[in-house]
Amino acid sequence: MERWVGRVALITGASVGIGAALARRLVKHGMKVVGCARNVQQIQALADELKNEKGSLTAIKCDLTKEEEILDMFSKVKAEFGGVDICVNNAGLAHESLILSGETQQWREMLDVNVLGLSICSREAVKQMREKGVDDGHLILLNSMSGHRITNYSPGHFYKATKFMVTALTECLRQELSEIKSHIRVTGISPGRVHTEFQQRMFKDKSKADAIWSAFKTLEADDVVDAIIYAIGTPGHVQVHDILFRPTEQST
Ligand SMILES: NC(=O)c1ccc[n+]([C@@H]2O[C@H](COP(=O)([O-])OP(=O)(O)OC[C@H]3O[C@@H](n4cnc5c(N)ncnc54)[C@H](OP(=O)(O)O)[C@@H]3O)[C@@H](O)[C@H]2O)c1
Repeated sequence: MERWVGRVALITGASVGIGAALARRLVKHGMKVVGCARNVQQIQALADELKNEKGSLTAIKCDLTKEEEILDMFSKVKAEFGGVDICVNNAGLAHESLILSGETQQWREMLDVNVLGLSICSREAVKQMREKGVDDGHLILLNSMSGHRITNYSPGHFYKATKFMVTALTECLRQELSEIKSHIRVTGISPGRVHTEFQQRMFKDKSKADAIWSAFKTLEADDVVDAIIYAIGTPGHVQVHDILFRPTEQST
């Protein structure tokens, strides 16, 4: 991890949950972290809390459903920091939405953030890495166990389909980077249930989310951060493709 001290990491969805926990860890390690989300004031509050740490956190407001906001964010990162070294595509969401009866607008939002936002950020990040001559950069794609098997829970179907696309995109990016003889690496991170705002946002009902969290001991955001730190901390000749892990008591 020492080679990352002083270098630039972009984390999408850094306002809460896994993204905020990762921002905290990387700033403490000494990285220049740029965090984006719509609720930028929450990232700014975290930046203020971390201001005496070794690294720094810069908050940028960005709605990942809007390509122009993503491109503008990358321009700001280039102007201020010279470009990214690590891009963590963490932002993501689920709506309860079946294929036979779901709302198109909810599908579109999941596709926009979970798939298109992730793809645009990956493209722009690799472009910046190559422009600044970085050949040891790293793309992290926050996938899910839901990107690897279909559980018997139909309201999650469209979300699972978006995460299956992330599984495909991980391998597509690996192949394209290999084709251009780049040493930039790409890693999928695929946790099972994690205790964040994710379920509450999905069900729009705190009691439903509480019931899920109390069913068994879920993963914590820091458990996911540990997996990301492992992947980016491996030496340059090691390409960690995907890390699948779930709470021990999660049966599915
Ligand atoms: N929690 C789980 O059980 C679990 C399990 C497996 C995989 N994952 C994956 O892990 C990732 C992080 O999830 P989490 O658990 O940390 O969820 P979370 O607590 O709900 O956080 C989601 C983050 O995504 C951001 N986001 C959502 N829509 C956005 C948009 N349009 N533009 C910019 N940012 C947006 C949110 O920021 P704003 O709302 O401030 O914009 C927030 O920072 C997701 O990709 C999720 O699919 C989660």
